[in-house]
Formats: sequence, C-alpha cells, structure tokens
Amino acid sequence: MLTLGVNIDHVATIRQARRTVEPDPIAAAVLAELAGADGITAHLREDRRHIQDRDVRILRETVRTHLNLEMAATEEMIAIALKIKPDYVTLVPEKREEVTTEGGIDIVKNLDKFTFVVDKLQSADIPVSWFIDADEKQIEAAAKTQAKFIELHTGKYADAVNGETIQKEFITLQKGTKQALELGLRVNAGHGLTYWNVYPVACIEGIEELNIGHSIISRAVLVGLERAVKEMKLAIKNQL
Ligand code: PXP
Repeated sequence: MLTLGVNIDHVATIRQARRTVEPDPIAAAVLAELAGADGITAHLREDRRHIQDRDVRILRETVRTHLNLEMAATEEMIAIALKIKPDYVTLVPEKREEVTTEGGIDIVKNLDKFTFVVDKLQSADIPVSWFIDADEKQIEAAAKTQAKFIELHTGKYADAVNGETIQKEFITLQKGTKQALELGLRVNAGHGLTYWNVYPVACIEGIEELNIGHSIISRAVLVGLERAVKEMKLAIKNQL
C-alpha cells in the first residue's frame, strides 16, 4: 500500500523566522501521525535553516511511525545519522543558495564515493534512499551503490504547465519506476506534489511512499495540520 511521509521542515521554517521555540516540529509530527501520516520526514540542512539538530534527536524518540532523515552525503551528516539511527536516510544534493532541493543528486559523477557512503550507513542498518531524477543512468548508478531505495524527484512533473509536458514528465516517472524495480530498488517519490497533482503519481504501480511537505503545511496554516494530512490521504486516493 502506498504510504504518505509528511515532511515537517516548513513548521521549523516558521519557527526559525523568529529564532524562537514555536511552532515546534515535534508537535507537528505528533499531530501528523495522529491524522494518519505513515512516516515523518525531516531535512537537516548543512545551514540549519529550518530543522535543527535538537529536532532530529527528539523526533527519533517520539516518532511512532518511521523517521526519514533527509541529508547531504557529507561526513558531518553521516556521523549524525549513525548516532540518531533514523529508519531510513534520503540522500539529497544541497546548495546553500537554493530555495529548496532543486534537482536530483548526481550519483554517476560520484559513484565510488557514494557507494562507500551507502555501505557505511547500511552496515549500521540504516537503509539508504537516493533522491534522483528519473534518469536511466542515475537509476542504474543508484542500483550499483547497493542502496535499498530511490526517491524519484517529481519536481519537473509538478512544475510542468501544459498537458503535453505534464504527460511527458509523468511517463518519465513511470519508466523510471519500472527500471528501478527491475534493478531491485524500492521506489519512493516526492517534491512539489500537491492536492491537485498527486493522484496520477499515486497511481504509478510500484511506488511505495510519497514524501510531501510544502503543500500540506501550507494548507495546515489555513485549516489545521490534522485536516491537511487527512485531506492529502484522501487526495492520494482521488477522494478529496
Ligand atoms: N523529498 C525530498 C527529497 C525533498 O528534498 C523534499 C523537499 O524538502 C520533499 C520530498 C518534499 O517536497 P515538497 O516540500 O515540495 O513537498
């Protein structure tokens, strides 16, 4: 069954706007889980612009579903993951000046280094997921690293503005999923998914988890987090 990982970064974004203690992403994670979230996702960025080290530590103790720690493949982050032991790690590219994670990570260019990173994390029983574009060569490289998962970057699909490009990007996601499954990878997807564009992606056979943040937290500001999570669960089933 397709699961929903709720990304709570933007709760921390509001808190960090004032460098204060509210709203607390820990409370958001609890509410999201009570509303039916199947997992909680948090991205500890190198610049700590939203999620803080303290958040990740407490989430590890409080999350009752599963905790997906998004992070860059750096020594600092690997050390944190080895200490925290999230249920899985999603490795993402990070550029300080970007507004959000703008593209997938380049495994092809860093194959040896990244194979080592996967081995280090998975030897400690932390499954690794690579956040990549649905690109044939990147998917092949992800499989070569022996990672358990990939997360397909759905940003291009989400940003597509006309029917033809939406369809083209959708087919790319479908093909990427099929290729990954054939290579023995498990497949998640996320980025830019909303109440309006999520359903087709939810229908792609073989995708296990959708990681969604901005759209849910945006709606939560207006209608409350529990309702926003429940409505996303409905949108995934085309029942909203
Ligand atoms: N998946 C990954 C790997 C991400 O980096 C992000 C953004 O932090 C998301 C999913 C969620 O994207 P959005 O906030 O656009 O739903």
